[in-house]
Amino acid sequence: MEEKKVMLSGIQPSGDLHLGNYLGAIKNWVERTDEFDNFYFMADMHTITVRQTPADLRRRTLEQLALYIASGLDPEKNTLFIQSHVHQHAELGWVLNCYTMFGELSRMTQFKDKSAKHKENINGGLFTYPALMAADILLYQPDFVPVGEDQKQHVELCRNIVQRFNGLYGDVFKVPEPYIPKAGARVMSLTVPDSKMSKSIPEGCVFLMEKPEDIARKFKRAITDSDTENCVRYDPKNKPGVANLMSIYSAVTGKTYAEIEKEFEGQGYGALKPAVGDAVIETLRPIREEATRLLADKAYLESVYRAGAERASYVAEKTLRKVYKKVGFVAR
Ligand code: TYM
Repeated sequence: MEEKKVMLSGIQPSGDLHLGNYLGAIKNWVERTDEFDNFYFMADMHTITVRQTPADLRRRTLEQLALYIASGLDPEKNTLFIQSHVHQHAELGWVLNCYTMFGELSRMTQFKDKSAKHKENINGGLFTYPALMAADILLYQPDFVPVGEDQKQHVELCRNIVQRFNGLYGDVFKVPEPYIPKAGARVMSLTVPDSKMSKSIPEGCVFLMEKPEDIARKFKRAITDSDTENCVRYDPKNKPGVANLMSIYSAVTGKTYAEIEKEFEGQGYGALKPAVGDAVIETLRPIREEATRLLADKAYLESVYRAGAERASYVAEKTLRKVYKKVGFVAR
């Protein structure tokens, strides 16, 4: 039997999961679950590059696992695990730090953004984060890394690290490809349409566990454009607010922009906003309900992350051994 290709990705439990995470990443993972051998994890080690409240980090990590499963990631078909449970991430992360250049790390947009936002805590981990992310990826030798647009730069840096490492030691790592969805790769804030949707602007951010009435309110208040045309047309440059609502609608309904334009012909932005809100509410409703049910069953969640860590560790260890041998460490 031909071996399945491998897919891998992770999300930081640094805030409650939101629509950007779902449309940019999770939805794309779920759609390909049968075709690939899948590894999805909670990137808790990355999260401490910014100060966290420990109890909140623990709660969000479990909630994230429940949401992965509730979104359709069957633990029988996907290895779901918590990053800090698989010690090989930290170990390979160290090795790859030594093969990642200062200049490369300095160019990372996420580092620039986060160091501007957290001036009091520009720590070494925040800077070398992409080397740990490369380790997360390479331990499992994936073919594809499904992420939103904003993570593409990190996956590209990972590819550079692979080329450098393989150039020195032979074909140790497979070169991974970023896999970015057509619709939903960059969901923008509902209130500031030129910023990406993120927890830092909560009013413009739709959280997966949020109540339907709150989601409806956020969509009703979504900023549309101040042009006088008031016609639903996909034009991200001149109508970023409307284009964002259309891309969310497209991602949740599968409709093309042309179909959406036709649907709202002769109607203004006032009709688009509640329609997108309703479509999002109906997409998220079963996910929220199932996640709530799973969160009440801590023993089940524990059995999933334990089995996940065991399987992930088995695969990761094989890669780590190979790497240690290549760089010249004496086998234990
Ligand atoms: P993170 O935790 O910031 O985001 C998780 C995933 O959600 C996507 N995403 C979005 N997509 C569309 N629109 C948005 N507004 C939006 N906001 C977030 C991200 O692109 C990402 O796919 N470094 C990673 C986590 C990570 C990782 C990895 C990913 C750690 N190790 C290994 C892949 C492979 C991060 O900070 O993503």
